[in-house]
Amino acid sequence: MPTGATAIMCPFHRDDNKQLSVDGLSLGAIAKQYGSPVYVYSAAGITDAFTRFQNAVAPVNGKVYFAMKANSALGILALIGKLGGGMDIVSAGELARAIAADIKPSDMVFSGVGKTNDEIRQALACGIGQINAESPAEVAAISTIAQEMNILAPVALRVNVDVSPSTHAKISTGQRNTKFGISTNQREACKIYQQMAEDPHISPAGLAVHIGSQIRDLAPFERAYSALLALAIELRDAGWPVPNLDLGGGVGIDYDTAGPTDFTEYGLLVQRLFAGQGFHLGFEPGRSIIANNGALVTRVIYVKHSDEKRFIIVDAAMNDLLRPTLYEAHHAIWTLDEPNISTSKADIVGPVCETGDYLGLDRDMPNLNAGDGLAILSAGAYGATMASNYNSRSPAAEVMVIDGTAHLLRAARPIADYINDEMVPNFAPISK
Ligand SMILES: Cc1ncc(COP(=O)(O)O)c(C=O)c1O
Repeated sequence: MPTGATAIMCPFHRDDNKQLSVDGLSLGAIAKQYGSPVYVYSAAGITDAFTRFQNAVAPVNGKVYFAMKANSALGILALIGKLGGGMDIVSAGELARAIAADIKPSDMVFSGVGKTNDEIRQALACGIGQINAESPAEVAAISTIAQEMNILAPVALRVNVDVSPSTHAKISTGQRNTKFGISTNQREACKIYQQMAEDPHISPAGLAVHIGSQIRDLAPFERAYSALLALAIELRDAGWPVPNLDLGGGVGIDYDTAGPTDFTEYGLLVQRLFAGQGFHLGFEPGRSIIANNGALVTRVIYVKHSDEKRFIIVDAAMNDLLRPTLYEAHHAIWTLDEPNISTSKADIVGPVCETGDYLGLDRDMPNLNAGDGLAILSAGAYGATMASNYNSRSPAAEVMVIDGTAHLLRAARPIADYINDEMVPNFAPISK
C-alpha cells in the first residue's frame, strides 16, 4: 500500500480542552472569527506532506509539480512554491494563478486534453517548462503556434497505457476507453512521438502518464510506470531524445482516519523502476499533499426528525464541498466540541434544494443542537476548487493556520459581487 496512517498525527485533533483544533487554534474560534462555513488548512501539515513526498522521490532526483486543481488558493500555491514545488496546471486560469503566486513558468507543466490555441500561446509566451500533449491534433496546434511565435515548444506526450487504477470510475483516467492520453496500443504513441521529435518547432520533452486519482494500491502504478519506461527506452534506443518522464499524481489517502499519507513505499517503487535509467522524473501529486490538511468547518442550523430518520441540517452544502454528491465520497465528520459517547444514525445535509446535497449519510453522530459545530475532514483537496455559487450561495471562505495564527486566504465573495457581474437586457415594453 502506498498510503496509510503514520506516527505523525492528523493535524486536526483535540486540544487539552477537548476542542477540535489545528496547530494550536480551536476550529470553533476560527469559525467565530471568519464565519461558518469556512475551510481551514494547516500550513504545518501541508509542509510536512510536501516535504515527505519530495524526500520519497529525492533518490531519483524527482521534481514535484503540485497538481493545483486539487487546491489553487494563492496562499497554498505560494507555500508550496517556497518549499521548492512547481505546478501542474490545466488552464490559462491556473497559469495566471500560479504566476500570481510567484511560481516560475519554467517550473510548470501544462496538462489537460483540451488546451485552446489561446491557452497554448499564453503558456509558450511566458516560457512554460513543459506542455503535455494528449492528441495528434494538439501536437499540430502547438507546432503551428510555436512556428508563428518563432520559438521551440517543449512538448511531452501523455500516453494512455490502458491500466485500470481500481478507483472510482469518475477519477479513473488510465484505461483505453477514457479521453486521456495517446494510446500506446497499435504503436500510435510511438509514431506520434517520432513525428514530434522531427518537428522543427518542437523540442521533444519526453512522456507523461496519469492513470487516475485516490489509488491506494501500488500495483496499478507499477504496471503503468513499467509500460511508460519500456516505451521511453524503446524511443531513446531508436535515437529520439526522451529527457523527462512525468509520472503524474494519484497517490491515495485515508479518508477514514484523515491521517497523514506515508509515501515511503511509493518512493521505493519509483526508485526500483527508475533509478539509474537516465531520465529526469516529474511527479504531480495533488490530493495526497493537501486533502488531509484541510477541513470544512460548519454549524448545525436545525435538527429534524422525520419518520425513522434524523437529519442534521448544516450551513455547508454541496456548493462548498461537492465530493460526496459527485463521487459518493466518504469524509469523516467530527464534532468541534467533545462528542457525547452515545450516538445514533443521522444524515448530515446542507440547505441546497437537491436530495443529493449531503456531506455524510447514515453516520453515527451524537446528540446535536442548532449552533453546534462540525468539521468535515479531508476536505483540503477538490473541495474549495470545486465550489460553486449554486442556489446563489457564496462558497465558504478559506483560512490557513500558520504557526498558531489564522490567516485569511480567500474571503467568501459577497452575493452582491455576483449580482454586480450580471447585466439585465433592456427589454422592449411588453404590449398587453
Ligand atoms: C494530469 C493530472 N496530474 C495530476 C493529478 C493529481 O492527482 P491526485 O490529486 O490524485 O494526486 C490529476 C488529477 O486528476 C491529473 O489529471
